[in-house]
Amino acid sequence: MCSAPAEPTRRLFFALWPDDETRAALAALAREQSQRQARRVAADNLHITLAFPGNVTARVQACLEEAASGITGAPFDLAVDRLGYWSGPRIIWAAPAQTPREMWSLVTSLREVLATCGLEPENRPYQAHISLARKASQALGVTRIAPIPWSIRQFCLVESVSEPAGVRYRVLRIWPLEG
Ligand code: 2AM
Repeated sequence: MCSAPAEPTRRLFFALWPDDETRAALAALAREQSQRQARRVAADNLHITLAFPGNVTARVQACLEEAASGITGAPFDLAVDRLGYWSGPRIIWAAPAQTPREMWSLVTSLREVLATCGLEPENRPYQAHISLARKASQALGVTRIAPIPWSIRQFCLVESVSEPAGVRYRVLRIWPLEG
């Protein structure tokens, strides 16, 4: 039987991308925390995912970009002040203890963007986090750390590109938060 060739897709997610200073502080934390058996996330890849469309066609990407352009979010500040470990995906993460109202609102708007473009709704509760290391085998309780300030003035659409050296994240488009 004949079948049409599969349409090409890109693996996309909406994210908060740190400025250089915040990135350097997060990268230092990742260096301190990653154990020998863990795979540290490259400094250039550190981010917070807001919503995850996953593998989408060019048509869905265009829909996502158009719908995201309609978001009128407000800027906000985060304090990344927690460190922990998820045993399922074996991730060492950092996170803000407090998620500001403006951040919830942005995540809700982006989940609506995904629905508008016909994507499956995310049914897991949102947990803002930065993955610092993967494949970590040594459990770690949740601890407080010296807060790393992060001033959020924009959000972006990012592509996850698989390369022989590993996954690289490429920012495709940035939207300001100026509400
Ligand atoms: P993680 O950091 O917790 O692994 C690119 O893969 C980004 O999208 C990563 O931040 C990753 O989260 C997130 N991601 C991957 N799969 C996801 C899924 N099914 N739902 C939500 N986020 C996902």
